[in-house]
Amino acid sequence: MTEDSSVERANDKQKPRKRIVVRSNGPYEAEPGIAIVDHLGVPVAAEAPVRLCRCGQSQTKPFCDDSHVARGFTDGRDPRRVPDKLDVHAGQQAYVFDNRGTCAHSGFCTDRLNSVFHLGEEPFIAPSGARLDDLINAVRRCPSGALGIGIGPARDTNLSDVDRPPQIEVSKDGPYRLTGHVELVGEDGAPIARNEGASQEHASLCRCGSSLNKPFCSGMHWNVDFHDPVPDPLREPTLFEWAGGYPALLDMTRIFYSRYVPEDPLLGPLFAEMSPDHPERVAAWLSEVFGGPRFYTERYGGYRRMVSQHIGKEIRPEQRALWATYMVQSADDAGLPSDPEFRAAFVAYIEWGSRIAVENSGADATPPPNMPVPRWWWVCNATPAARPSAIADDAQGANEVSVVLPGPDEEVQFDQHIRPLFRPMDRNSMLFAFDLWKEEDVSKHSRQILARLEAGTMPCDGAWPAERIALFARWAFQPHS
Ligand code: HEM
Ligand code: FES
Repeated sequence: MTEDSSVERANDKQKPRKRIVVRSNGPYEAEPGIAIVDHLGVPVAAEAPVRLCRCGQSQTKPFCDDSHVARGFTDGRDPRRVPDKLDVHAGQQAYVFDNRGTCAHSGFCTDRLNSVFHLGEEPFIAPSGARLDDLINAVRRCPSGALGIGIGPARDTNLSDVDRPPQIEVSKDGPYRLTGHVELVGEDGAPIARNEGASQEHASLCRCGSSLNKPFCSGMHWNVDFHDPVPDPLREPTLFEWAGGYPALLDMTRIFYSRYVPEDPLLGPLFAEMSPDHPERVAAWLSEVFGGPRFYTERYGGYRRMVSQHIGKEIRPEQRALWATYMVQSADDAGLPSDPEFRAAFVAYIEWGSRIAVENSGADATPPPNMPVPRWWWVCNATPAARPSAIADDAQGANEVSVVLPGPDEEVQFDQHIRPLFRPMDRNSMLFAFDLWKEEDVSKHSRQILARLEAGTMPCDGAWPAERIALFARWAFQPHS
């Protein structure tokens, strides 16, 4: 099985192409009918037609707020851009096509298939370095459309592209990822040419304002350190957000059902009749279970539909065990986070859910007809912020506390001076008793907290410096307004 859906493909061919008008020195104007989603696959509320920022300065990203006018944004192509040149790499099973002038440096190919795509090495592509299906999937996943593949010496559109519905994904800190054969036109309606060999199905469009190859992304967002607003660091992420949202889960289920299931003698026959969009359905279910939007309920029918699909399947324990093993393997293959906290929660759900699937699948099983879709959470409060990481990159920031010292005559304020002393992991480890981020709770227990700070028994990973303890004591003993 390949990743595409033949149903989608047939429908798509009949539809007229949607358009994006690229305004001169201004925003992108997307026609109604093009879905706009964030990097987690969650629809971004928008009135159609939509004006999308491409100067990188809007305060209402991804939407345009006319900042391009004040900034004097211009959209000329930079002569220093990488030349438009199609390279052809002949391999034993296929030819791989690559235009470095189109590449947006998302790194999907080098991250996922480094036996073929070599980061910083020449030749960049070793086209015989992987199985043909893995090679095809890597080409299709290239968001800029720089890569193509053909069995002969010409790019084969059917192999290189998947027909998807028209969509703009607002990637995190990066370009708009366009899919679904959307046509790009200038203000005068004239089509905007793409580089040689570029996909017509997908492309990456600059939204940082600094591309050398406007309107396409050239990877400059890395150089200019383009960043979206950071979400509230004090809010615990859902498993859905931590996993990378629907696109990451879909990547995983597609790998599962295309790489592992068909070839397995125990699982293959069970799924022989599955619907072509089964990977989408399971990804939607997992999105919902892991705390994301209610995709499965909205799109496919919720708990009843899911349970009805397992009834009577008579899943055997050895089939379940394989199912769980391959799912974890697919999570690795898809690059889902591998940190202990995420994997503990993920595996716990896979074990729990797959055992319920076995229970529900028996000939005389009577699963309850109306249950809510479960909402899974981090296990035993092992959230990402619950402990300092031992890995250098992760450790930075997680252990840091920003201490704001009040002036000698200034009143110590809880929100400004005290609350920031407690890290998420401190808060989590005390939540069973009280909340270190609530003034009322800390005030009520201030003498006990101070005693433990002075004794060095709190926090559990190391005592506070004397200056911080003194600040807490000053707040604890000052008359509270
Ligand atoms: C956490 C565990 C599991 C989850 C979340 C899950 C999820 C799902 C979902 C959402 C569907 C319904 C898709 C639809 O709307 O049509 C489904 C169907 C199905 N599941 Fe599972 N499943 C789990 C475990 C298992 C296991 C252990 C097996 C067998 C080894 C299995 C075999 C099947 C089969 C055969 C179907 C019907 C596929 C078709 O013919 O379309 N599932 N599963
Ligand atoms: S978003 Fe990639 S260069 Fe602007």
